[in-house]
Amino acid sequence: MKNIATKLALVTGLCLNLGFTMISTASAETKVGLLLPYTGTYASLGNAITEGFELAIEEAGRTEEFTIVIEDTEMKPPVGLAKARKLVYQDEVDVIAGVVSSGVLGAMRDFIHQSQVPLIVANAGNNLATGENCSPYIVRVSFSNGQINRPMGTWLSENGVKTIYTLAPDYAAGHQMIDAFTEAFTAAGGEVIGSEFTPFGQTKDFGPYLTNAQASGADGIFVFYAGGEAINFVKQYGSFNIKTPLYGSGFLTSPLYVEAEGDAAIGVRASLHYIPTLDTAENKAFIKAFQAKYNTMPSEYAVQGYDAALALMAAVDNGGVDRATLASQLPHVSYVGPRGPLEIDPATNNIVQNIYIYDTVMENGALTQKIIDTVPAVRDDVAGCQM
Ligand code: PHB
Repeated sequence: MKNIATKLALVTGLCLNLGFTMISTASAETKVGLLLPYTGTYASLGNAITEGFELAIEEAGRTEEFTIVIEDTEMKPPVGLAKARKLVYQDEVDVIAGVVSSGVLGAMRDFIHQSQVPLIVANAGNNLATGENCSPYIVRVSFSNGQINRPMGTWLSENGVKTIYTLAPDYAAGHQMIDAFTEAFTAAGGEVIGSEFTPFGQTKDFGPYLTNAQASGADGIFVFYAGGEAINFVKQYGSFNIKTPLYGSGFLTSPLYVEAEGDAAIGVRASLHYIPTLDTAENKAFIKAFQAKYNTMPSEYAVQGYDAALALMAAVDNGGVDRATLASQLPHVSYVGPRGPLEIDPATNNIVQNIYIYDTVMENGALTQKIIDTVPAVRDDVAGCQM
């Protein structure tokens, strides 16, 4: 995994290319601000999204067409907003891609809308950004928090789980993921008998929360955790020898860090929009290219970065030469990618995609993912969005 210093060197290299190309050919170029966390709980997510983004552009042989300016949100909403302003006013980017945290996306939304700079969301699931606070300048190629968790609520209830205890970090994504799960689970006849939210990015000891969850007597524990928090949570679930089955948003056992979780991840059942074991030609080709460049398995985060770059290149090819034309072309993206078929819903600018229910299993001495079920073409309600 590249560190930030290497990335900045890469940016400098790309900037030099830009200068050269402008002098030699004066061809139109697109300046992209990549706004991601490179420090903190979600740093590995930011790195994986960057890897996917760079791979797509390199694979297409178009590195000279795009100048990439990288900024670290540090996963802090005020920092994310300040960096977005810097990218727009100082760097004068044509488009921003990235954003991992729902909190950062919430803080940036009004600025993006008012400054009319297109934003390709490559992770943050904040429902409001494609719901009541939607904008023609925000297009999401990742997922919404509701989209990932509703199918799991319905699925668990229909498959015999009657009572659940929920846990998640105490910020926008944690609340939205648990709300979506709870709504679908209860609508299908299940009951959530307890729920706690843990201080975001600060909880090191999940023991007391796990003890309460087990003591509730629920049939299962359903959680959302990602990045460093997911690793700590799953490891502690294993070391406290909790017997209650563990379910979650699929980020919990992401291939990005499941190896760090170890055997404790075996048997966790979860829902997600990309699983590396998907048996399709598109996914196999993507994995081959990703492994050739990075020598590791890709994750949903890498796919989101990859698809963000594919969407950007398609928008450029369809006449996106400046902020306004890019914004109008981005929602038209539609193709079959590593995760399966995807399109952007013009009513919300959120992605429409399959959601997969999967188990983490041990096979030939390595942790891998077994797909149990597929919920096709999951689309969010318009939820107050007026474009
Ligand atoms: C979010 O804050 O929206 C978020 C962060 C990490 C994830 C998923 C969603 O893995």
